[in-house]
Order: sequence, then structure tokens, then C-alpha cells
Amino acid sequence: MRSVKFTWLLMIFVVLAATLSPRVATSSQSETEKRIGALLARMTLAEKLGQLQQLDGEGNGTFRPEHPDLIREGLLGSTLNVRGAKNTNQLQHVAMDESRLKIPVLFGFDVIHGYRTIFPIPLAEASSWDPASAQRSTSIAAQEARNSGVRWTFAPMLDIARDPRWGRITEGAGEDPFLGAAFARARVRGFQGTDYSAPDKILACAKHWVAYGATEGGRDYNTTDMSENTLREIYFPPFKAAVDAGVGTVMSAFNDLNGVPTSANPFTLTKVLRGEWKFDGFVVSDYTSVKELINHGLAADDPDAARLALNAGVDMEMVSRLFNQRGPELLKEGKISQATIDEAVRRILRIKFRLGLFEHPYTDEARESSSLLTASNRAAARAIADRSMVLLKNERAALPLSKALHSIAVIGPLADDHRSPLGWWSGDGKPEDTVTPLTGIRAKVSPATKVSYAKGCDTQGDSTEGFAEAVAIARDSDVAIVFVGESAEMVGEAASKSSLDLTGRQMDLVKAVHATGKPTIVVLINGRPLTVGWIVENTPAVLEAWMGGTEAGNAIADVLFGDVNPSGKLPVTWPRTVGQVPIYYNHMNTGRPPEANNRYTSKYLDVPWTPLFPFGYGLSYTQFKISNLQLSAPRISSAGKLMVSVDVENVGRRAGDEVVQLYIHDVAASMTRPVKELKGFQRITLAAGEKKRVDFTLEAEQLGFWNREMRFAVESGEFKVMVGPNSEELLEATFTIENQ
Ligand code: GLC
Repeated sequence: MRSVKFTWLLMIFVVLAATLSPRVATSSQSETEKRIGALLARMTLAEKLGQLQQLDGEGNGTFRPEHPDLIREGLLGSTLNVRGAKNTNQLQHVAMDESRLKIPVLFGFDVIHGYRTIFPIPLAEASSWDPASAQRSTSIAAQEARNSGVRWTFAPMLDIARDPRWGRITEGAGEDPFLGAAFARARVRGFQGTDYSAPDKILACAKHWVAYGATEGGRDYNTTDMSENTLREIYFPPFKAAVDAGVGTVMSAFNDLNGVPTSANPFTLTKVLRGEWKFDGFVVSDYTSVKELINHGLAADDPDAARLALNAGVDMEMVSRLFNQRGPELLKEGKISQATIDEAVRRILRIKFRLGLFEHPYTDEARESSSLLTASNRAAARAIADRSMVLLKNERAALPLSKALHSIAVIGPLADDHRSPLGWWSGDGKPEDTVTPLTGIRAKVSPATKVSYAKGCDTQGDSTEGFAEAVAIARDSDVAIVFVGESAEMVGEAASKSSLDLTGRQMDLVKAVHATGKPTIVVLINGRPLTVGWIVENTPAVLEAWMGGTEAGNAIADVLFGDVNPSGKLPVTWPRTVGQVPIYYNHMNTGRPPEANNRYTSKYLDVPWTPLFPFGYGLSYTQFKISNLQLSAPRISSAGKLMVSVDVENVGRRAGDEVVQLYIHDVAASMTRPVKELKGFQRITLAAGEKKRVDFTLEAEQLGFWNREMRFAVESGEFKVMVGPNSEELLEATFTIENQ
């Protein structure tokens, strides 16, 4: 009797332990750990170091001649850029049929915002303030990539960016940690689902760990230097959200952080990532970032670079081969331990097992082509682009335009450009797939409408030869729509700019068209905020269309002709001039906050201190009224929660979406605090005349910060809570936190 009772009790304990304590391994996890241990025990040093190596394929997706031999010898565990079911299967068969231990190859690729169907750039998608859109786009991207043999994407990019001179601002979710964390969770879930061994999911990669976006001068690959408080409050949250969402890998970055390059930084790679956050996936370096430790002046030579990166917590080396080539001597000299090597291999094998790569190493070649760029995938890309555009100005309802206009002039270097809407990281997207604005407009308007086109000028260069034709068609038309901005190679990696002005003669083209006196609508196709003050000042309507992906042209036409009511909000502050940069909404108040009539306050002599457009800003074809801010209590405990609610009414004549934003300000604390911090947002749809009550729950925990002792604490005192349609037009109330 006793033994039966004891067994029952034991079983209850095990089940309870497994459910209550996530760290108690479930049977499948312990099964995986057993398989890893068994494999590890059979591996030679060369085979172990081989698992730590990733090498680059060809730009067209084929592998390199040396790859099959390396894989056959067990000396290559992963590739990047090798893609297409045929190419990946061919290499995988070498691993599974001809190598000694049959460890499958992990195929990685930059599926940043789409594989073959390209979605709006991440900065555009963040403008939707709709994480569900991001989850949908990354889910479709995962499906297309998986069907093409790709099992791992180097995304989502989670770098907070406060400096639009940095070309990689295009790849992230903007300047705010709360919005960035929401999109981090959504993108990891979209790529990985709840089980990334599923046939339509792939492994994700939180990058670039960490603070790469704080690069001095906005100059790519440059130094970053900041307090640990700023690091933890601004740059960590999106990565923490990704780790909590179960991201399987993290990519270390290029930048030097406070004197210790992030690809050899024990504080970020081990103390925080593994010690504090319990991340149990693996870390891949960025492209040759291990070798670059020598340039940084941290490593004296190749062996030193390998030693520093491995001992700090980098597990897989992308492209440079120092782990492979120098590992044996470092081990012999006791500069790295066998345990360190084994732990790196264990982490990589763990992810390969979780991916189901051992059981399902191949890709069904028959499914590939039919699953790419399907009508439903295109429709999703269009719908997400519809929601990502930001209406910056619309004087006297210049927009939407009538589809029955007699004549329209479509002008500009980006009016019929197939490449720029795909952005810098265009995956396997093909320019010929792109619907350009000109095509979208022609498809949208009535057959009787005369649509003329003139390029006018290029995005770069000094020629104005095309101006005459552009001006002529504008003169002959009811309205002119001018498409200016940036071409694909002007954004993304290694695309920092010292000026945010329109390049080439684009601004002069807009002025020449505007001078005809015809209504001139400007549409921006770009990957970062641009200093377009003259356009905002002088033209009746400005639409920020970003680089909207394969279906950009159709989505732009949807908005221009009113089939879609624009609802995007800026995820980055929009400067008047590059001289204001860095400029961001969650800044400190200073001891002398700017006052218009007081010289001795923090402002400029030559420009207003305010941005051209604030964080969270965006217009609609209808109007919304936010009122009646109510708090559930005047005070809460430091472990309590506060209910915040407002009325939102659509007081216009058509349905639309509003993004209601909630900010807080800690009035007086043991450290200076930002004048406002985003702590909630809700995107709601309202019919004309409809009114809804919108409720937020504010947990006291959300009001804490990292203090002087580097502890996260919620302090007592007065707080402001602010709610509105952007970070400037805010209803305000106050409440108090009283420590228990
Ligand atoms: C690049 C980028 C990184 C990308 C990797 C592979 O240099 O920094 O974002 O994922 O190399 O292409």
C-alpha cells in the first residue's frame, strides 16, 4: 500500500514541479539533453569546432565549392545565404549521407521583412502600431523561407534608433523601448510560432545585441558609449521581450560598447543574457565581428580574438574562421577550456534538435515555387502596407483624390521604381514583382482618367533635364503627385548620411512642379525621417509611404484615392534639421527646459527646439476626439495597479482607426526621469460618429526604473499619466505611488 501511495505522491510532485517551475526540464527537454550529451561524447575536437562555424554562400543562393568537403569532414555546421530547396537539400544530403556523425546543416538567411513576398520595411510596419500585422508578415515570411530550405532568419532586428543619420534605422521599430518590445514579441512569434520545428516556422535571431543603434554620429559600425541605466532602460527591453518570447538565437553586434566590443563582452553576453535572463539558445557573431576585435584593439591577433569571443559567450562564428583555425592551440595552451567549447556546441545542437532538423533535414522541392508570392501573400503585404502609411499633412482635405479625375500627373524618380519599395534587405524579393505607385494609380482610377508620367530626375545627380517634361504634364493635369525619397541602396547597412535632405535635385523638382500652381501632393518613399520642411510648409498634402514592399503601389493608391483611411503613427521623432539630432520624445527635462522668451534655456538660436513631427504623430481622413480621462484611484501601492480610461469618438464623416497612446512621467525620483514614457497603446476602429471607452491597466511595476544602485525599483511619489493621439496632444492627470 505504502509503495503505491508513495508512487502517486511522487507523480503528483513531478507534474506540479514541471508545471510550476519552468526550469524543471520536461521529458522531451531531458530527452534532447541526453541526445546532445551522447552526440557530444562522440565528437572529435575538429567536429566540435566545425559546429561553431558558419560560412557564407553565394548571393544567388548557391553554396561555395568548398562547402561539401567541409561538411563531409564535419567542419561546417551552418551557412548563410544558401537558399532554394534544391541547393539546401544538396548540401544537407552531404551532411546526412556522407559525414561521420550526420549532424544536419543549419541554413540561415536575412529574412528581415519578407522572403519572396516583401512586406513594408520594419520601420514602416512599426508605424502601424499593430503588432498583429508584424506577426502576420513574419509568419508568411517564415512559411516562404521554410519552403525554400531556409531554417533560420537573422531577424528581428531590435536596435532602438534615435538617430536617422544611421541607415539601419530602417530595419527596426524606431526609438521607443515599449513599442520596440511589442514588435519584438510579435516578430519572434510570427517567425517561430510556439514550436519552430513546425513545417511552416523558422528559427529567429534577436539582433544586434546590443545598443548598435546608439552609434556615435549615426555613423555605422561606430563606437557606442552610455550608462548602464540607459542601456537597461532603452536598449535592452526589446531583446528581453524576444528572449521571453522564446527566441532561439541572438546575434552579437559590431559595435564597441563602453570600451568592450559587443562580440566579446562578458557583461552583455553572459552576465545579462544567460545569468539574468536565462537565455538557453545560442549566440552567433555578426559578419566577421570576431575577427574585427583586432581592429577594435581589444585582440592582439587571431588567437586572441577567438579566445576573447568564445570566453565572453559567442557560440558560432559568422564567416571569419578563428574558432576553427585557432581553437586547437588555444585549448592546448589552456586559454580556452574544453568545457567552453563543449557548452557552445551543446547550445547549437540544442537548437538544431529543437528545430527538428535531425528528424526533418530536407525541404520538399515540389512545394517551393507554388508557395511563394501567392495571391493571399500579396494581399497580406498590401493590407499591411495600407496600415503602415502615415498621413503627415492634408490641408483642406486635399486627399483623398477622386478616382474620376480628368487627368493626373505622376512624377518623380520613385514613381515607377521597382527596387526602392523593397528596401535594402529584400530577401529573395524580385524588383519585377513590385507594383509601383504608377502601376497602382493606373489600376485604381477610372479608365477615362488620363494618367501621365514623367520621372523628372534621379534620386541622385545634378541633372534637371527631365524637369521640363515633368512641369509640362503637371500643367496639363488636374493634380500632380510627386514621388521622392530614397533609393534602396541609400538605406540599411553602411548607409549613414550626414544630411537628411532629399538627395540630388528632388527638392527642386517638387518646387518646379509646385510652381505650376497645380495641386501638388507629395508621397515619400524612404527608409528614415527626412528633413522636408519646405514640402510640409508649401504643399497641401504629404503622405509618408515608406518602402512599402512588393504591393507598395497598390497600397499607396488605396490611400491616395480613399479606399483606405490612413492610420499610421510615427515610431520615430521627425527632426526639422539634422542639427537637432539626436532628438527623441522620451528625453530628460534638464534644469532649463526650453522657453520661447527666455534665452537662457535649452534651445537653439536658429531653429525651434521642437521636432517637425512628434513621436506617435499621424493624421486620418476622419477626426477623432479623446476626452474624459479617468483614473481608478488617486494613489496606488508600489505593487498595485491603476486603471486609466478615456472616451474616444470619431467626430468625422468616415470610419477610421485611431492609435490611443498612454504615457507616464515620474515627477521627482532618485534619478532624473524622461518627460514622458510610452507605457500603453491601443489601435481602435470607429465608425463615423461612434464613441468608445478605452481602458488601460497600468501596473506599478511599469513605473519602476534602474536606480543609482543598479537595482530595478518602483519609487513612491507623484506621477503624471497622459493619454492622446500622439506624444504631444495629451490629456493629463496625476496619481501617487505609496510604498508599502
Ligand atoms: C550583416 C548584418 C547583419 C546580417 C549579417 C548576415 O553584416 O550586420 O544584420 O544579419 O551580416 O547577412
